Amino acid sequence: MTAPTLEIHLSEDMMTEALRHDARVGLTADPKWLPPKWFYDARGSELFGQITTLPEYYPTRTERALLTAVAGEIAEAAAPEMLVELGSGSAEKTVLLLDAFVAHGGLDSYVPQDVSPSALEEAAAQINDRFPNVTVHGVVSDFTGTLHHLPRPKGRDGKRMIAFLGGTIGNMVPDERAEFLTGVREVLDPGEHLLLGAGLVVDPAVLVPAYDDAAGVTAEFNRNVLRVLNARLDADFEPEAFRHVAIWDPEQEWIEMRLEASRDMRVVVRGLDLTVDFAAGEQLRTEISAKFRIAGLEGELAHAGFAITRHWTDPDERFALVLATAK
Ligand code: AVJ
Repeated sequence: MTAPTLEIHLSEDMMTEALRHDARVGLTADPKWLPPKWFYDARGSELFGQITTLPEYYPTRTERALLTAVAGEIAEAAAPEMLVELGSGSAEKTVLLLDAFVAHGGLDSYVPQDVSPSALEEAAAQINDRFPNVTVHGVVSDFTGTLHHLPRPKGRDGKRMIAFLGGTIGNMVPDERAEFLTGVREVLDPGEHLLLGAGLVVDPAVLVPAYDDAAGVTAEFNRNVLRVLNARLDADFEPEAFRHVAIWDPEQEWIEMRLEASRDMRVVVRGLDLTVDFAAGEQLRTEISAKFRIAGLEGELAHAGFAITRHWTDPDERFALVLATAK
């Protein structure tokens, strides 16, 4: 048993630089917006963990039940030697896949990637304890960084699987998805796999409360991005002065989270030498969470150069796992 190793392609300085860029672009745009990856400092990752246990937030438990049911079939169909997980977070559901891959035989290593070093360290340690014969090598980076540095399996014929679970693909707009999926396809050899978890289009009466829970945890998670700006860019946002908004866009088929200014406000982002004015009622977009239809998802994968091997959904058709093979 070897201790997990951690490879860091995102220093604190690089993170701050990237945030500076994103904040300057987003806060001077009309309408204002911020990318969702900035939710996830230690507190944001913790709040997301709480979201996944809320009664209204069905995606995590639905995907977990689905993985429990079909992990054996995935192992059978793909039998990877190396599992690379993009945006692994707490890697709580990954255990189900690793169990199946180990039982099937042939799994040698697990490479979790995340932007959050705290989440990654914890996940790597847990997986290492539970699977002493699997080499764990964590990568702190963004997706692009990981794809750039994708390790090779030890065995000459060993195949890799890239897993992208949790529905995080929904954070990308269609053009970003096309670029991302093409990038994933490019780093894989023919015959290697992508396992994609994606939320499906469901009744807005089910969907909207999942992003606007009664206990207000999602609201806190949403406002956390302002706390991240305060801490990293020396800004003076008053998070409590912003109202959490979650709305379903039926044309785009995505949920949008926004923060709405409760009054006129002038915010100073000292780290950027930037003054940002909000009018009462003005909304800042903080996340899109797109939902999919199987045909659309498979079309996007085919367009990026994947053949669809199989897909699975839960009985209520709220969530899908798609296994795609690089052509
Ligand atoms: C982690 C991106 C999958 O979009 O459902 C949860 C994030 N945002 N509640 C999602 C989130 C609000 C989540 N993903």
